[in-house]
Amino acid sequence: MKISVYIATSANGLISNSRNVPDWLSPEYGQGMYAISQKFKAVIMGKTTYNIIAPDHLPLKEEGTTIVLTTNDTAKPDNPTVKFTKEGPVKIKKMLEREGYADAVIIGGTMTISQFINAGLVDEIYFIVEPVLFDGGLPLLKNVTGELKLNLLQVSKLNGNTVQLHYQVEND
Ligand SMILES: NC(=O)c1ccc[n+]([C@@H]2O[C@H](COP(=O)([O-])OP(=O)(O)OC[C@H]3O[C@@H](n4cnc5c(N)ncnc54)[C@H](OP(=O)(O)O)[C@@H]3O)[C@@H](O)[C@H]2O)c1
Repeated sequence: MKISVYIATSANGLISNSRNVPDWLSPEYGQGMYAISQKFKAVIMGKTTYNIIAPDHLPLKEEGTTIVLTTNDTAKPDNPTVKFTKEGPVKIKKMLEREGYADAVIIGGTMTISQFINAGLVDEIYFIVEPVLFDGGLPLLKNVTGELKLNLLQVSKLNGNTVQLHYQVEND
């Protein structure tokens, strides 16, 4: 199974601003996130991201699997696709493979993406680069050991100002 990351960044590579208000994201980012989630039908995110987008903006509603990483044993799913888990990346991948998915997409945030990167389980990354600069926000990665090389697969202009960079990750 292939795992992709789909993430919006500022032009200087941050994924959230210090206000933690997503007013810098383009409609095209939102549309792209929904489209890839609907295409793969398997979505992975951390509980902090889930708390921001659930229930109204979850990309899967009735069909598919939304994996949410959390240590919270009492959280109640906001729709039938949501499964809370405290398993790590390897077990999550196996679980989705058992369910028959060929692809899954991680939609955030930093903690979740970093764990999958450290496990060597991210195959492709889509950066949606928004035309803003800010400091004090969250970086894409934290506590990631080692360095990864990327192969550029495609560059797309999503609107007058927003670019999508689609990379393949060189995992050994
Ligand atoms: N630019 C974008 O495209 C984009 C997209 C999504 C999010 N974001 C931003 O990213 C930020 C959130 O990122 P984040 O790194 O703070 O959080 P995150 O990855 O969304 O979620 C972190 C939470 O997930 C749970 N978790 C993570 N790993 C776990 C594990 N191995 N086992 C059990 N639970 C685990 C923990 O929740 P519990 O405390 O419940 O255990 C942890 O606090 C927000 O500011 C958001 O705006 C940006």
